[in-house]
Formats: sequence, structure tokens, C-alpha cells
Amino acid sequence: MSKKKVKLKLKSSARKPLIIVGVVLLVIIIILSFYFNRIGELKNLGYSEEAAKNIIFKFKYSYVMDIGENKTLNMAFSSSDYKEENLDNYVKIGYEDQDHLISNINKLLDKGYSVNEVNLIISKGDDKSVSDFVKRDKVKYIEEFLSVDYAKLENLDRYVEYQDKENDDAETTVLYVNMDFDKENYVDPLVIDKFDDYVLVNKHRQLSSEYVPDDLVTIDDEYVKVDEEIEIERNVAKAFYDMAEAASKDGMELMVSSGYRSYKDQEEITNTYLELYGQKYVDNYVAKPGFSEHQTAMSLDIASKSTATFVNSEEYAWMMDNAYKYGFILRYPKSKEDITGYKCEAWHYRYVGKKIAKYIKENNITYDEYYVMFLDD
Ligand code: DAL
Ligand code: ZN
Repeated sequence: MSKKKVKLKLKSSARKPLIIVGVVLLVIIIILSFYFNRIGELKNLGYSEEAAKNIIFKFKYSYVMDIGENKTLNMAFSSSDYKEENLDNYVKIGYEDQDHLISNINKLLDKGYSVNEVNLIISKGDDKSVSDFVKRDKVKYIEEFLSVDYAKLENLDRYVEYQDKENDDAETTVLYVNMDFDKENYVDPLVIDKFDDYVLVNKHRQLSSEYVPDDLVTIDDEYVKVDEEIEIERNVAKAFYDMAEAASKDGMELMVSSGYRSYKDQEEITNTYLELYGQKYVDNYVAKPGFSEHQTAMSLDIASKSTATFVNSEEYAWMMDNAYKYGFILRYPKSKEDITGYKCEAWHYRYVGKKIAKYIKENNITYDEYYVMFLDD
């Protein structure tokens, strides 16, 4: 049987549309592969999928590739607030993790703030304070105050007011206002809600009456100069034992006369001293309940075993030279009474760790200043 070969041949009129479809498909595949390739490149630079798509659809691929990684630009292209006329400025404005960053940048630029001013406003505020600030008319003195490292946008009006009154330079003004020097002691204090080993307690910063630190230990009897148990935070106890051992090698006998005090203990102490010595003494030497560093369990009152008045003891002189090596600072020094709000207490030491203690000693500053400059956020 012979087989007959059947050749299927399309009519030329049917071939043409197929070629067109093929070409179109090829073009689509080429465009898509270009598109996905570019999306991939942008994602490798840290741009989100959404930002990458918008960059391509707004024809800014080459522009962004020239810039490289830029978090503000990433947020701008992910945001419905993106404005083409601000593109060059977004690039120059440092990123902050704020929900309304792009809309706030737009509003600040619209109000006539320079890029440098916008950078300062954004970096010295948080989402809420910046969002409030953009509603105001343009404010002067931005650069003078906000250029100080630890300036806070929310304190800007207080800086202006304080400087008008005191005539200090911008850096001092920012430092003092951040320490609440423009407020009376104990008036409108901040109620502390963040507790760690660095907590700052003073006449402007209060602990709740319920606050009790976590990790209290009892100080060994041999080091206790009073007729009661003394508790203190575990790491402070360790540092104290190290210090006492080193002191004893130098012939010194360090002891402790007070450590952790509850809110109620402080209340009792205040009342006792009030009866014994009166209000002025209490204002100078005793913190109101809730305002005592002793409630943090990070402070110790140090005594000498043999000398009744600590300031006259060899141990005091030794502490002046050596306490910082073990992480302790004299918390209320003579030369800083205006800053701490207390008369000098030769016996009261705060544990801050070796690094901070060294800095405070070398730079002759208080913990209040250190905190505002380096730890307050
Ligand atoms: N003597 C310090 C200031 C206190 O009462 O906490
Ligand atoms: Zn004390």
C-alpha cells in the first residue's frame, strides 16, 4: 500500500496575522524582561517593589540608578504624596522613620524652608511634632537652635523664650531647656515610663509611686554601716564589691549607708528630716518621694568605716580619684549645685558604668547634662 504524503499548507492570508501575533508577543516578552530586569536592579539597590514600579512608570529609572540607594527617595516613590518638582530635594533630605515624611517635606518646602532647614526639622522631631510644626507659619531661628546635636523640635519655642530671658548661646540654651531649667523644680515634671540602667531621676523627672526595680540584691553585712538591710541593683552591688576590694588594698574601708529606697521609704525620710531640720534643709538635701535616685536602686550612699563625716575621710579622697574606674560618679558635686538642684552630697554616688563615668569625670559634667546630650531621645 502506498502512503500519500499530505502537506499542510496554510493559506498566505492566514499566515500574516500569525506573524503579527508572534511579533507582538516577542515585543511583549522583550518589554517584560526589560521591565522585570529593571525592577530587580532597583530592588537590589534597596527600593521596594512599589517604589520600583513607580520609578519605571514615572520614567525615572536612569535618574534613580545614578543616585543609587536612597531611603527618602524610596519612600517618596512609594507614597501617593510624591511630587515631581521636589524630586531633587527628596534626594538631599535624610530619611527618618516617620509616617508622613513625604507629605511633611512637601509642606515644609512649600512654606519656603531651605533643604537644610527641612533636614533639621525632620531630624530633630518625630512624626507627631513635625506634623504639628508644618501647620504653623514659617518660624525663624530654626538653624540657630536645631543645629545643636541634641535639640528637640518640640522645644523650639521654649529655646526662643529662654534665650530672650537668659541671653545664653544656642548650645547652652538647648542644653538647659532640655534639662527643664525653664521650669520650677517639681513643677510639671516628666513621669518616667522607660526604665533601664540609665534612667535619669531629678527634680524634673519623677518615678511612679509603684515603681520597684527588678533585680535587687542585699548588700553583704560586712559593708553595711547602718542597722538595717540595704538592697541595691545586682550590677551595682558587683561594681561596689570590686571598688571596695580595690579600696581596701589601698588601706581604705568603704561602707554603705543607703541604697534602694522605696517611694514610701523616701516619704518617711522626707518627713523625718522635715521635722528635724526644716524645709530648707529638705529642699537642699532630700528628694521628694518619686524624685529620689535611690528609688532606681542605682545609687549608693557611701560611708567610711572609721570616720563619721565622710567628706573628711580618706575614703572620700580615694573615691574622688578612683570611683569612676568602677563606674560610679559623685552625683551632686559642689561646683554643680545649680545644675543638680542639690547641695553637694559627698556620700551619694550613682552607678552609670565605666565608660560614662570616665566621660563625666574627664569632662567635669553632671549626669543630668550627659543624659540630655547623649541618652535622651
Ligand atoms: N539625698 C538625695 C538627693 C535623695 O534624697 O535622693
Ligand atoms: Zn543618697
